[in-house]
Amino acid sequence: MFKIPLNLDINETPVCAVSRNSEKAKILAECSLIVWDECTMAHKKAVEAVNRTLQDIRRNDHIMGRITVLFCGDFRQTLPVITRGTRADEVNACLKCSVLWPRVQKLSLTRNMRAHLGGNPRAQEFSDALLKIGEGSFPESNGLVTLPENLCKIVPSVEKLIYSVYGDVSQITHKDNNSWLCERAILTPKNDQAAAINHSILEKVEGDE
Ligand SMILES: *[C@@H]1O[C@H](CO)[C@@H](O)[C@H](O)[C@H]1NC(C)=O
Ligand SMILES: *[C@@H]1O[C@H](CO)[C@@H](O)[C@H](O)[C@H]1NC(C)=O
Ligand SMILES: *[C@@H]1O[C@H](CO)[C@@H](O)[C@H](O)[C@H]1NC(C)=O
Repeated sequence: MFKIPLNLDINETPVCAVSRNSEKAKILAECSLIVWDECTMAHKKAVEAVNRTLQDIRRNDHIMGRITVLFCGDFRQTLPVITRGTRADEVNACLKCSVLWPRVQKLSLTRNMRAHLGGNPRAQEFSDALLKIGEGSFPESNGLVTLPENLCKIVPSVEKLIYSVYGDVSQITHKDNNSWLCERAILTPKNDQAAAINHSILEKVEGDE
């Protein structure tokens, strides 16, 4: 939407590639609320670029051109990814280190509505344990936490993981079984791990890839 430039690291005062006369600028000029989800992963300069651009498009010197921007996110989660960056680089790129941050009004959500409305006590336990890990109050040794058995199912190998999610892959007749497949997934932190697991599963499925 904002056409935020990609070279945020080298540009001190980036602006978005949205010209004043474009259709996009017209939409931005008229809008009254912008919702920016997972803002903890955004580079602070991306947010600053949007500030500059909105001020320019709306010819309005107020912060964000006087559009209300709702940022949502949890700083216990993923911070901006800085290629080959150090921890300090990541913290520095974070929205909290932006000159805009003092202007943000902070509101906290304290109840996990998903766990609450679902009425599943296990979901509440899971959510509480996850919060403790995020707060750093979960028992740890040398910076590592041991996940207890009641928090998740622990498997000793990738092959066992695949089995626990997909069962015997060679039995999958994927022609008439798409909905069954769509109900399961394996997520990994990195793309190469996903590719390796994907490859391993596809190797076992019979028929055309
Ligand atoms: C927002 O953008 C304007 C215009 O570039 C700039 O003068 C101002 O310093 C920015 N505000 C912040 C808090 O960065
Ligand atoms: C889909 O495949 C799984 C695993 O082989 C099997 O348990 C399930 O019964 C299949 N469902 C249908 C509708 O074929
Ligand atoms: C898995 O591999 C197939 C074939 O190479 C590819 O089409 C598909 O996008 C891959 N899926 C994922 C999630 O990487």
